[in-house]
Amino acid sequence: MTYVILQSCCNDASCVAVCPVDCIHPTPDEPNFMQAEMLHIDPETCIDCGACADECPVDAIQLDDDLAEDQRAYLDLNAQYYEALPMTCTSAVDNPKPWRTDDFSDLRVAVVGSGPAGFYAAKDLQTLRVAQVEVFDRLLTPYGLARFGVAPDHQATKGVTAMFQSLGKKKNLHVNLGIDVGQHISHAELLEHHDAVIYAVGASLDRQLGIEGEDLVGSHAANEFVAWYNGHPEYANHQFDLSGERAVIIGNGNVALDIARMLLANTDHLEKTDMAQHALDALQNSNIREVVVVGRRGPAQAAYTNPEILALLSHEGIDVIIDQTEAATDDITQTILDDRRTESSVRAKVRSAQEAATRIASGARKRLVLRYLHSPVKFDGREGRLDSVTLVRNRLELLEDGTVVAVRTSTTEEMKANIVFRSVGYRGSSVSDVPFDDHQGIIPNLDGKVIDPHTGEPLPGVYVTGWIKRGPTGVIGTNKQCAGQTVDQLLQDHLRGDLTAPIHPAGSVRTLIAERCPDAIGFDEWGRVDTAEQAAGAALSRPRVKFVDTESILVAARGLHDR
Ligand SMILES: Cc1cc2nc3c(=O)[nH]c(=O)nc-3n(C[C@H](O)[C@H](O)[C@H](O)COP(=O)(O)OP(=O)(O)OC[C@H]3O[C@@H](n4cnc5c(N)ncnc54)[C@H](O)[C@@H]3O)c2cc1C
Ligand SMILES: NC(=O)c1ccc[n+]([C@@H]2O[C@H](COP(=O)([O-])OP(=O)(O)OC[C@H]3O[C@@H](n4cnc5c(N)ncnc54)[C@H](OP(=O)(O)O)[C@@H]3O)[C@@H](O)[C@H]2O)c1
Repeated sequence: MTYVILQSCCNDASCVAVCPVDCIHPTPDEPNFMQAEMLHIDPETCIDCGACADECPVDAIQLDDDLAEDQRAYLDLNAQYYEALPMTCTSAVDNPKPWRTDDFSDLRVAVVGSGPAGFYAAKDLQTLRVAQVEVFDRLLTPYGLARFGVAPDHQATKGVTAMFQSLGKKKNLHVNLGIDVGQHISHAELLEHHDAVIYAVGASLDRQLGIEGEDLVGSHAANEFVAWYNGHPEYANHQFDLSGERAVIIGNGNVALDIARMLLANTDHLEKTDMAQHALDALQNSNIREVVVVGRRGPAQAAYTNPEILALLSHEGIDVIIDQTEAATDDITQTILDDRRTESSVRAKVRSAQEAATRIASGARKRLVLRYLHSPVKFDGREGRLDSVTLVRNRLELLEDGTVVAVRTSTTEEMKANIVFRSVGYRGSSVSDVPFDDHQGIIPNLDGKVIDPHTGEPLPGVYVTGWIKRGPTGVIGTNKQCAGQTVDQLLQDHLRGDLTAPIHPAGSVRTLIAERCPDAIGFDEWGRVDTAEQAAGAALSRPRVKFVDTESILVAARGLHDR
């Protein structure tokens, strides 16, 4: 028997550390770890001890004997990784970091952002017994995209927040919710109160396509729809016209697949999740029967990951339609497949698209159409409202550095639709007085040390982690390694004496906050909100019913809520 890693894998790698036979790869020390779609268990080496399954924060590991029929594809996905890439393992234990054994009991660190990256950094520092970790978030609820991004039908993934929640009881860690750094408190003030500041503010904006008609009514950025269905207070009042039968999604990353699933899902299923009630109501009345996901390159370059596409391909009640010519192996794809260095994940994408392209549609009421090799050229409308999307056919071109790019041909097609989602990636935004690279949408840095963009020199005491450090890619656990690297830089700078001690006494930052932001709340008050949401959910057999407006959150935080 062997354990198998499934769809909800978050790459947190907690499993790697507890495996007694090093059968889970890539490990955080291996070069391909940060780009890995998921982790894989080698069935030949696994001794089915179950340590990994016990440790996994998102319930992503199961014994092969217990797999449901639609999960058996993950058995192959795990095994194929080892067929393509025989491993030589280096476990983390082989690389001790001497600077981590020092005494940090005089160190005070501010972490800005309570998403996965901020919490992984805070957890790391808390475990190292630093004197004080002060976490700030502009919202009244913690966890960033783990609450407002991860799809409602991925409840197991949201389980990672339980690990963060447990930090609320630690004496040397304090969470301040409802504090916008740059607005309520400045960067300079944070530095006056701490030895170092780590920015983990994520990337919450959308990227633009730059095409005609992008601003028509009915053309929406993916981040807007995602935040709406997840109950983000700033998006709860947005409106989406779901009266047409077709929706088009531009881009084929995992966010595009999330949106497609939400639009096509059976709402009986969504009713058992923590989807915001306003979104459930709207989706219950939706007429959408067909979702078209448009990727500009071929299946081998699709931005979605295999665990996610496999789950969609076996989704009950949805026909997945793929044009055989768009999934066919052209010369460039053949060259890639013939190259033995090509990752097993690329082969799996080509295989699954080609297999799905041969399927005969069952005539289900709902259809997911996966298009490849097409880009949008313009959106057309009538009286300011979207009416159709014009796509151009692309061909692939292989560049000398191995990159495969989409090149437009002269063949176009028009597709009728009154709603389109632009799911072409997220984008970071600047924090006042902190350097920002507008081109890349990140805070400029060297391995997590923020640098002055003009001189390239590190700014003492200023660090960055997560999406605002690397750009908007990677799953939740990717941020654990990312945060670890940033914390390592901070510790080494501290030991070298490069940090400036705070000029204000410990705890004084909270006095400042209390004066300026009477509505800010701490983790204890968030605990009340959390309990109230879960209690409301329990009554309806749902994990929680989210509060979607600031006033209700504050009422629950003060213990005045009577649901
Ligand atoms: C739609 C979507 C679905 C996803 N689904 C999955 C999934 O199923 N599984 C998975 O493993 N990964 C998933 N991911 C990826 C995962 O969510 C990210 O890797 C992760 O959230 C990035 O963490 P972060 O901390 O850098 O950013 P975020 O999670 O965005 O956190 C940033 C935090 O900073 C706060 N902040 C911003 N500005 C300020 C400021 N000025 N002052 C104070 N606070 C501030 C924000 O309020 C936020 O709480 C998904 C991503 C998206 C977009
Ligand atoms: N379940 C999960 O684990 C989960 C769920 C959601 C998100 N996430 C993660 O979150 C990260 C962000 O996901 P994402 O989907 O927002 O981003 P993404 O993976 O970067 O995908 C962006 C998509 O937009 C396309 N695109 C970009 N510019 C375009 C243009 N001008 N015209 C047409 N297409 C364009 C890209 O095509 P090219 O590839 O050709 O550039 C790609 O298909 C990813 O790392 C993802 O894995 C994970």
